[in-house]
Amino acid sequence: MGNAIWRGSPGCKTRKEEPLVEFTVSTIEPENCPCDLLVLGVPEGEIFSGPVATIDQALGGILQKVVGEERFTGKARTTLFFHTHDRIPPRRVLLVGLGPSSRITTDHLRQAAAIGVNTARGRHLRHIGLPLLDRFPAKEEAQALVEGTILGGYRFRKYKRSDEEGMVEGVELITTPDRREEVNEALRRAAIFASATCFARDLVNEPPNELTPSRLAEVAREVATQKGLRCTIYGPEEMRQMGMGAILAVAQGSSQPPRFIVLEYAPPQAKRTVAIVGKGVTFDSGGLDIKSTEGMETMKMDMAGAAAVIAAMSALPDLALPVRVLGIAPAVENLPSGTATKPGDIVRAMDGHTIEINNTDAEGRMILADALAYAVQQGADEIIDLATLTGSCIIALGPICAGVMGNDQGLLDRLMQAASKAGEKVWQLPLFEEYLEAMKSEIADLRNSGGRYAGAQKGAIFLREFVGGKPWAHLDIAGPAFVEHEEAKGPYWPKGSGTGFGVRTLLEYLTAISEEPQEQDSGKHR
Ligand code: BES
Ligand code: MN
Ligand code: ZN
Repeated sequence: MGNAIWRGSPGCKTRKEEPLVEFTVSTIEPENCPCDLLVLGVPEGEIFSGPVATIDQALGGILQKVVGEERFTGKARTTLFFHTHDRIPPRRVLLVGLGPSSRITTDHLRQAAAIGVNTARGRHLRHIGLPLLDRFPAKEEAQALVEGTILGGYRFRKYKRSDEEGMVEGVELITTPDRREEVNEALRRAAIFASATCFARDLVNEPPNELTPSRLAEVAREVATQKGLRCTIYGPEEMRQMGMGAILAVAQGSSQPPRFIVLEYAPPQAKRTVAIVGKGVTFDSGGLDIKSTEGMETMKMDMAGAAAVIAAMSALPDLALPVRVLGIAPAVENLPSGTATKPGDIVRAMDGHTIEINNTDAEGRMILADALAYAVQQGADEIIDLATLTGSCIIALGPICAGVMGNDQGLLDRLMQAASKAGEKVWQLPLFEEYLEAMKSEIADLRNSGGRYAGAQKGAIFLREFVGGKPWAHLDIAGPAFVEHEEAKGPYWPKGSGTGFGVRTLLEYLTAISEEPQEQDSGKHR
């Protein structure tokens, strides 16, 4: 009966172990669920539909009165909390507004569950009852509720001595008998998705003195050993032999050696290979083109792409998808020093392109140039990269949304569909041919910075030169990877924390292409 779930990273010693949250699926009536807190999502203006009406009856109409007195209307993310004084088995009820009925998405359920778990933690309540709404397919609702619970309850406490909050120990998902199987299955999947997301958050939240390129590589190796993935780690000498001059140029300013991390998930029945590539700059000072104090403060998060890739890879054996996936994470520190790369330096990438480094702070595209070329060399049929690549993308789309760009509209459409299912915001930006001019150098094939306008797109155009015409999508996650500003905060996005952005989109994407095998289209890619 009990589906025990471990929240947090899969034993990679990146965090203190946290207790289990046990999810159970039950078919009890919500008003009869013996729990400390019953969490009910309610549409705006239609509060007294469904279980809320029954509960109001059981309480002799008190609920109607409280809702009126508190002027609770069900606006999105607003709440109403009250005690039931032993009239019904749930000891407290939390109504969470979902906003106008016609605009409710499964992400509102994810948020409502997160608000529920945070309310419970703040009040030291241990057992939550969480009924499904029956607005969306049971699978989707259960997945959103479970993800919201795990992601909303996430804290990075490894470096704190004490904890003021309580822990939720049990969550009862409440559904009808006919939907029970579906809910059970969704629960398992959601727990895998959410745990992988928490793992990526842990990696992003680690300080840069702890999470160096070599430490990141060790973590990747631990994951591989535990999960049964193939793992190859290259050091600087091997990178030199492979001709990865672009990564080495970024790495040369630091005393920490770079690592080129490759994880492989290769089920026997796989017919095609997807490469997922993540930018792993464990600290970005800008190099000699050094950043400002404010600009540098959060730059430990510049490895969020690599974190998403490693975390997504860690989930694949549990999901048992029939597709081969290469997870590639180039890891470096970008620092200024007597050995650092200089503006004006020209280096050669693995695929032969020469690059004039006109800005040492455009280091992400340098390390990705070699990583993308490596993915092509390894026989990837399709490539998706994730990178905290440009401040420009944050200016364009704000801190809660990623930019998506690429050379194959079919792939981009499938990826955007997956992101929407995952509740992650992405928006496509156009790659106009004119932008390529800005990325050309007078004396080398390319330069790494092309001026301030359309910075996100120019970064992508630069990357496109290294994918050898393979279908490729690029997610610029500079905004949503880390919650730096108040305005980006959300019920399951705590301020000052990594978000694990991209993990669930990748897993949804890989699940979708496994269910409906896509023929490689014959469209043109450049
Ligand atoms: N890591 C930064 C981008 C970034 C900025 C991520 C803010 C998250 C928050 C990247 O390496 C960078 O410095 N990009 C430059 C590129 C420019 C020099 C072409 C930028 O966006 O200014
Ligand atoms: Mn930079
Ligand atoms: Zn960077």
